[in-house]
Order: sequence, then C-alpha cells, then structure tokens
Amino acid sequence: MFRKWLFEEITVVAVVLLVGCGLAYAADAAVQEDSGVNRMIIYTDKGTERISRNIYGHFSEHLGSCIYGGFWVGEDSPIPNTRGIRNDVVEALRKIKIPVLRWPGGCFADEYHWKDGIGPREERPSMVNTHWGMVRETNAFGTHEFLDLCEQLGCEAYVAGNVGSGTVEEMQDWVEYMTFDGDSEMADLRRMNGRDRPWQVKYFGVGNENWGCGGNMSPESYADLYNRFQTYVRSYSGNRIVKVACGPGSENYPWMKTVLERAHRRMDVISLHHYVRGTGDWNKKGSATQFEEAEWFALMKNTLTIYELLKNNIDIMDQVDPHRRIGLFVDEWGTWWDVEPGTNPSFLYQQNTIRDAVSAGIFLNAFNEHCYRVRMANIAQTINVLQAMILTKDEKMILTPTYHVFEMYKVHHDATLLPIELQCRDYQFGGETIPALNVSASKDKSGNIHISLCNLDPKNSARLVCELQGTEAKKISGRVLTADAMTAHNTFENPQVVKPATFNNFKLEGNILTATLPTKSVVVLEIE
Ligand code: AHR
Repeated sequence: MFRKWLFEEITVVAVVLLVGCGLAYAADAAVQEDSGVNRMIIYTDKGTERISRNIYGHFSEHLGSCIYGGFWVGEDSPIPNTRGIRNDVVEALRKIKIPVLRWPGGCFADEYHWKDGIGPREERPSMVNTHWGMVRETNAFGTHEFLDLCEQLGCEAYVAGNVGSGTVEEMQDWVEYMTFDGDSEMADLRRMNGRDRPWQVKYFGVGNENWGCGGNMSPESYADLYNRFQTYVRSYSGNRIVKVACGPGSENYPWMKTVLERAHRRMDVISLHHYVRGTGDWNKKGSATQFEEAEWFALMKNTLTIYELLKNNIDIMDQVDPHRRIGLFVDEWGTWWDVEPGTNPSFLYQQNTIRDAVSAGIFLNAFNEHCYRVRMANIAQTINVLQAMILTKDEKMILTPTYHVFEMYKVHHDATLLPIELQCRDYQFGGETIPALNVSASKDKSGNIHISLCNLDPKNSARLVCELQGTEAKKISGRVLTADAMTAHNTFENPQVVKPATFNNFKLEGNILTATLPTKSVVVLEIE
C-alpha cells in the first residue's frame, strides 16, 4: 500500500538507484523552499555485500608539498612532530579512520629508487623529480619514514613499485627489505637501519599508469612485464601480499581488456584512475573557487559518469573473471582544477569548495554501490595536492570540505550495503538534466542504518519521503555539510566556513522517514 502511495505521483518507470525523473523547472529560478517530493525505499534486511573500509583510502605522492611540508617536517622542526611526522596531520587523519595509504606515487613511483631513501638521512643521494617541477628530491622521506607514518596513522601500507625505470631485482629487494623476517642481506640491511621486525605491507602495486608517465607502454608489453615483475614480488614471513596490476585511466577499455586477458591469473587486483573537472579540456580545467552554476553543473554531471565507467570496466572484468576473484582498486580519483594563482603549476595545489565535497559524496556513494568489485579507492591526494583533505601553511593546518565528507561517511566502513530504490527529481541546467539526488545506505555491525545523501542542486532544497522496509526504526539523528555559496571554502584565515552541523530537518513516523535536504548539501542520517 505504502509502496503504491510512495511512487504513484511519479509518472515515469521506477528505476533502481540514481536515475532521476524528468520533472523540469526553471534553471534560473530563485531558490525555492521545496522542489517537490523525492521518493525512496531502503530494503534494510536485504543487504549482502560488505563495503570495504579501504574504499575510504588515500594516496600521497612526492609531489609539491604533499610529503614535504604536508606529512614530513623533519625531527628538528618547531612544528610538533613525532620522528619528523606532523602530529596535527596524524591526529586529523586518525579521526577519519584512514584505512590505507598509497605511496610514493603516482608518476613518481616509476622513477623512484627505494635504496636512495634508506640509511642516515644526511648520506642519502638526491634526485630530480622530473614529473613534478624538476625540483630536488632529497629522499629524506623514504621507506622507514613511510612505514612509520602508516603505524602512527594505524593504517595499511600500499606501496607502488617501479616498473617504468626500475629493475625486477630492485623490486624484489624492496619487498624482501620491508617484509622478510629471516636471514638475508636485505633483512640485515633493514636491521642495520634500525628496524628489527619486518613491517606488514599488505598491498603492492606493480607500476603506475604504465600507459603514460609509467613508461608509455602498450597494454601487451605492460602485461608481459607485469607477469615477469610480479613473479618476484614474494609473500615472506606470513605477510600475504596483494598484487595490484596497472589498469586503465578512465575509459581506456582496450587497456583493461588486454591486460586482464594476458595477466589475470597472476593478479589479485587491477587498478583504475579517474579524475574529473568542469571542462573537457586538460589545458583549461577551470578555477577551484571562482565559478558559476554552469561549472557547478558540469562537475556534477562529470562526477556521475563514474557509474558508467565502473559498470563498463566491471563488465570487462566479469568476462575474464566471472567469479569476481579479482578486485578493482580506484587508486586515484578526485577533482583536478587549475592551480591556485601564484603557486607552482607543477605542484597541483588547489583549493576545495562545497562543490568538491558534493562530488566526493557522489564518488563514495558510487564506490559503495559497486563494493562487490571495488575493494579499495584512494583519493588524490591527502595533503596540499589536488582534492586534498588537508591544507598546510607552515605550522597552520586546515581541513577541507572533502575531509568533512570522509569524516561523515566513516559510518559506512565495513558495513553491509543496503539495496535502494530511488525516484528523484531532475536537476536541470542549460537544457541538460541530471538526477538531483544521489544516495547510498548501509547497516553496521550494531544494526544501525546510515544513509548518505547528496543534493546536487545548488538552488533547490529536496523533500524526501523514504520507506525503511524490514526494520522498526526507533531513533534518528543526522549531520549536514552545506554552505550559503557554491564557492564556499575554508581558508587559513577562516578555517570553519564549511563544516558539518547537526541536521534536524526530518521526521520519523513508523518506518516512514521524511526529510528536507538543503541545497548543495551532503547529509548523513543514522537510524537506530
Ligand atoms: O595525482 C597526480 C598524478 O595523476 C599521478 O602522479 C598520476 O598517477 C596521475 O596521472
């Protein structure tokens, strides 16, 4: 009965998830109180798939001030640190329960020679970081510092190895150095450098973007190299290493197909990278903070393409690996804008607004929905680069709107994904339409249900009626991230402009939940 009532006013056919209905309204209309009702059913007792906490993972590269100034200030710095690693940053990332950190690149990984980054710091050779500004890389932050960072953060390590300019021997030695407990030259070298026990290194990437900065290879030649290199990536001393093959960038489907066909038996995971921006032009990506609704709409539309991209890549994986043994790691994703005026163009330093936060909310909802294959995702990058969580300026540190989305969404870590039916109104701009709402829901170990909702529309609030099937809800609470302006962001002078607030605009009657989501917002509801 409810179901009939729930959907009867909507004239189009019901669709599972995401696809909205075509109820148009004037794009340039003033902000409206209510743009009509959106309807949803959550099947709270029908979940089967687990959302890996690793979907909320991170990526940090030797690029700009991500490592130096971001994570690492050195032991002698006046900035409070533990063995050279910033305490404020560690504390902030522990709060969002960072599950895994990928390092040292990115493009940098395929020119990194790990032996330069061990031993007494003053004796380490330097190199030129040819991808990112031709600056001197001192190698002050190397293997020991990275794995110490992971231990301080309480997260898993994901190390990316060098295929583009490295050797098989170098890669084999690195894994032995980090993880071998027995009697060997590499294990002795590690002990000599101050680490007796081996580390647990769970994830190891065999190259990065080898179709581009990682060696400009064809998929055939990379797949053959992958097979060779991975042979020597050994699991030592009880450390079962998960091997990650380099997958495509965005819709490079032929790469996905060929690498899988030639190497699927020898990989645990294949990666995917996907960056979004307002324009389709890499030379004019647009400003992170100065934009109008056209650029807002463009980012929302581009972000939603992640659904198609995941589907198409997973379809290819299903052909080669129908039992879904192989995982998909989206180990670089996020927004990519023009750098902040006055900063080094090669350092990829960009600001982060509520627009980036809504985009992150959509990405994370999409990864949740595909958690049967997407077993890790790593936002690019954690500090001071691209869609950062954290920005630092000397001793100051601020949290970006994207950080707050990760903090609000941590309730999904390791929870069970719940199926949803959604019928929502459209967000229309310039003659184009996209669904105005985006959503994901899960149930945690205690039986609490969490719903993460994004209202993509910057001008219209969204009224939602939701049936919670299969549960007797008792209590509801919520948090919201929104802002008055589309361009709102946090600065060192005003660090609290965009931050989560308590959300009260809901009602629970029996198992019917009604809520009104503010314009341009991310809302997370908890139902006990
Ligand atoms: O995240 C910045 C760069 O983007 C990475 O180094 C590379 O893998 C990708 O192209």
